[in-house]
Amino acid sequence: MPLSKIAGIGMYVPEKVVTNNDLKKWMDTEDSWIQERTGILERRLAHRTEETTTTMAVEAAKIAIERAGITAQDIDFIVFATLSPDYYFPGCGVLVQRALKMKEVGALDVRNQCSGFLYAISVADQFIKSGMYKNILVIGAEKHSMGMDYSTRGRNVSVIFGDGAGAVVLQPTEKENQGILSTHLHSDGGSAEILAQYNPGSHANHWMETPVADFDDAEVGEMFMSHAMIDKAQLFPFMDGPTVFKKAIVKFPEVIVEALTKNGYTTEDLNLLIPHQANLRISQFVQQKLKLRDDQVFNNIMSYGNTTAASVPIALCEAWQNGKIKEGDLVCLAAFGSGFTWASALLKW
Ligand code: ACO
Repeated sequence: MPLSKIAGIGMYVPEKVVTNNDLKKWMDTEDSWIQERTGILERRLAHRTEETTTTMAVEAAKIAIERAGITAQDIDFIVFATLSPDYYFPGCGVLVQRALKMKEVGALDVRNQCSGFLYAISVADQFIKSGMYKNILVIGAEKHSMGMDYSTRGRNVSVIFGDGAGAVVLQPTEKENQGILSTHLHSDGGSAEILAQYNPGSHANHWMETPVADFDDAEVGEMFMSHAMIDKAQLFPFMDGPTVFKKAIVKFPEVIVEALTKNGYTTEDLNLLIPHQANLRISQFVQQKLKLRDDQVFNNIMSYGNTTAASVPIALCEAWQNGKIKEGDLVCLAAFGSGFTWASALLKW
């Protein structure tokens, strides 16, 4: 059974740089507060009207496809991970298929937030290993700026996130000892409401002791989105930051060690860990817990903020472009996020 390898990788981030000080135009915040708690110095925000999650994904995909030495016509399946799609439905996968004038290939959208790209890679990996497809385009992309509360009310969430896209082309490898060795996927829905955007949705306050939407006198057909939700700022994401932090620092190391152990490796064998760029403090905690050297962990949240499903492919692409990954290196990708879901992939580059 052939393993799958990353044959091409690309990234795209918007031109517009927004520093922590720039955010002060919109909210009461401090550069020092953001840096101390998250490590973020600046993030990129997409053009309001000219850039969407899909347009950014398409730019990243073009680079990945070219680097794989193929054309968009050769792609035989698309897996697209995002929590900020262009439309509530259909998903972004079909928009990429259209934009890149691909054949009428399958397009699957993945909704696993911060671990979305790893879930997407895992799905693609199974299709390659089974022999069903030969060139799969896997994308993680986000336009968070479309739906964040950039006022003081939403500052505990909005300062953390940024926009961007990353993409890879997976192909079967012909080489021995190369490719994705294993992927590991987990979830714990017990904490689904800890990091979530509740509205618009069909929940009707069913899962919450304290209602998270005000339906006023709305009829059932009007409960998806209402004026009351807009007036009461109930259309923004919610995050219980301390709870996310506590769970992340346990599950990140667990799923990294799971991947290493499964393949007979230890942390000393690891050439590079690419963690989801949730928060620099979380990455540093994981590094400390696993006793990894600085050169074994790649972080770029300082420049881009947390780009959710895009963060792993953007970090992987930048690490590779900066010469930090060489052929034969043992690389671990790991993520934790909303759901909660967490995941890892171990690969020989
Ligand atoms: N600027 C200035 N002050 C702020 C800001 C801001 N941007 N945001 C919140 N504050 C204030 C709060 O209002 C509060 O003030 P008060 O004490 O007067 O009430 C104070 O700072 C502390 O607020 P907390 O929310 O308790 O801040 P905390 O120290 O927990 O830090 C943070 C928040 C950074 C989110 C932290 O909880 C954390 O790192 N959590 C991990 C979650 C995370 O990283 N999520 C990333 C996305 S999820 C993922 O990718 C897995």
